[in-house]
Amino acid sequence: MDGPTVAAVAWSTDGTTFNYRSPVGGEVRLGGYVVLDAPPGELLGQVLSQRSVEERGRRLVTGTGQLLDVRPGQPTFDEVAVSAAPDQLIAARLGQRGASLELGTLRGVPDVAARLEAKGFNRHTFLCGQSGSGKTYSLGRLLEELVLRTRLPLFVLDPNGDHVHLGRTGPDVDPTVAAAYAEAARGVQVLGAEPRDGAAPLRIRLSELGPAGVAALMQLDPIADRREYNALLHTLRNAPDEGFASVEAATEAFGASGDEVLELIRMRIENLGVDRMAAWAKRSARTIVEVWEQDAPRALIADTSSFEERRERIAVAVAVLEHLWAQRKRRRPLLLVVDEAHDVCPALPDDPLQRLAVELFTRIAGEGRKYGIHLLLASQRPDKLPENVLSQCDNLLLMRVNSAGDRAALASRFGFVPPELVELAGTFGLGESLLVGKVSPDPQLARTGTRLTPEGGADVPTDWAS
Ligand SMILES: Nc1ncnc2c1ncn2[C@@H]1O[C@H](COP(=O)(O)OP(=O)(O)OP(=O)(O)O)[C@@H](O)[C@H]1O
Ligand SMILES: [Mg+2]
Repeated sequence: MDGPTVAAVAWSTDGTTFNYRSPVGGEVRLGGYVVLDAPPGELLGQVLSQRSVEERGRRLVTGTGQLLDVRPGQPTFDEVAVSAAPDQLIAARLGQRGASLELGTLRGVPDVAARLEAKGFNRHTFLCGQSGSGKTYSLGRLLEELVLRTRLPLFVLDPNGDHVHLGRTGPDVDPTVAAAYAEAARGVQVLGAEPRDGAAPLRIRLSELGPAGVAALMQLDPIADRREYNALLHTLRNAPDEGFASVEAATEAFGASGDEVLELIRMRIENLGVDRMAAWAKRSARTIVEVWEQDAPRALIADTSSFEERRERIAVAVAVLEHLWAQRKRRRPLLLVVDEAHDVCPALPDDPLQRLAVELFTRIAGEGRKYGIHLLLASQRPDKLPENVLSQCDNLLLMRVNSAGDRAALASRFGFVPPELVELAGTFGLGESLLVGKVSPDPQLARTGTRLTPEGGADVPTDWAS
């Protein structure tokens, strides 16, 4: 393997992409930025694929990349020098195009900030990474940036109470930053299943589920249970405005009606334990949907962690989705953030209420964007979410994924992401990510920075190990 050292060289046969050859262990790295000494002047490029080859007994690295900011008519070139781009050039590249959200730093380039374009959140986003990869922490950091640097209202469905402190900074934050954050986060509101620490109660009304939602909760089939279903439809339609605010009111009315079919529905409510769900608003309490409408919060965190039953979290999601969809014509932009999205929007729904939630998510994934309803869904694996929802996501924020099968599924579902970068997700450490899509000027390999706000639901301590 002796012989003269191979120089890193590049060539381009089309003036928009390049190929390169470089020594093993050189500075040309997968996902990294490079400068190419091409005519008529230096060009910036990004490496998108890399493999090692053996040529005349010597191992070297070859691959391809994308030329950035090339002018029309860029000539082809051959055998030009290629080297790692200096930090200032990378920072300038990422700083252009209004990429104002600073998530952290680039992975392996600690002096350059990883930046996202806020306006890219006018598309749906999928945040994916296995358990413990740092999704929730990074999501919190991202929400902080959105609060700090945009005016986009945030509606957060938070099944683990991880984001309940989004409104206040932690003790170690620089006072100037803390003051700016406090100002920006003044309208952050938290609703909790079990209200505490100043959080108001998170409640919904039966009527907010819509007739299909109420029927689904009661496991009524429009054909098999046609009499009960029909009686329910009519009763809901004729209910007074605040009627069935509480399920108690409904069961009382059904019981007192003397109607045999309504009595069957009353029994169904009792038998299924629907009346014992903690999510129901008492008559005068405000519901989550009413808080969203009346207060127009900067961010509304719906902490559903203390609901004992999954159907309560799903019922909350259904009430919220029904409302957002009903109001869509107002075209008030918002980002609907759903951590552990598979909990309320599973790929394989197994009861009518879950199926309804999936239908509503699918509709918003397909048509919400034009009304300003944008989704940010976090989950551990692509297969956990419905295909029709995932396929509408134009942004991928990818954290560590150990499973080769999952990486392959991601590469095939997110065709706009260079597959070799998806493959790198198998090597990511805690907090490392690949950011791609409308939100990212280029595919970025990033490392999430320190949060300003305290984490909510903490991981179980591991002091038992010592
Ligand atoms: N960038 C980071 N810097 C420091 N600590 C981090 C970072 N990211 C995550 N952590 C810590 O690592 C642990 C796991 O992170 P996190 O809860 O965000 O994982 P997750 O991907 O959401 O997992 P799950 O899918 O199980 O919810 C947490 O204790 C969190 O505080
Ligand atoms: Mg999490």
